[in-house]
Amino acid sequence: MFDEPGFPGGPDLDDDAPILDTFVYCSRAAEGVDDVEVDRIIEWSQRRNAKCEITGVLVFGSGVFFQWIEGPPAEVKKLIASLHGDPRHYDIVTLDRNVEQRERLYPNWEMERVGPDDIRAVLLDALDSAEDQNNIAALTRIVAHLDSGPLDTLGRT
Ligand SMILES: Cc1cc2nc3c(=O)[nH]c(=O)nc-3n(C[C@H](O)[C@H](O)[C@H](O)COP(=O)(O)O)c2cc1C
Repeated sequence: MFDEPGFPGGPDLDDDAPILDTFVYCSRAAEGVDDVEVDRIIEWSQRRNAKCEITGVLVFGSGVFFQWIEGPPAEVKKLIASLHGDPRHYDIVTLDRNVEQRERLYPNWEMERVGPDDIRAVLLDALDSAEDQNNIAALTRIVAHLDSGPLDTLGRT
């Protein structure tokens, strides 16, 4: 019965999963970037990401961004280049980056804004439903980052 197409949790599940590039980073917001600007970024991102099949989460708090991006490698690579050239933030620190075949963690979020108080819950939720060992490892590392200090210390060494 495991050979039935679409059988949930069957051994073929991973074979159907897409190749996803995951980029997780934090950065500091440039002066003048406020809640209104972040809402603008979200609005733009949702439209653009829907076309590029990118999904993820953006957190903004205490002048710091935290973003989880997942999507086709070529699109994520382009977005990373754009992010590095975007003057609305600086001090971009990569927390996690990998390319692998897996299911999306946030399949329905073209780019969801999450409050800093909720980020831990969002990550733990993802961890709870994650089956992929690479996802579990990455999420565990990021939760450990969060637990080692407030979000606005993530970029500091
Ligand atoms: C914190 C932050 C997060 C962003 N997230 C996205 C995103 O998820 N998708 C996106 O298309 N642009 C995002 N942007 C905007 C890009 O950096 C860039 O301005 C936009 O994609 C246009 O890039 P281009 O001029 O190179 O085409 C974000 C910008 C910032 C500052």
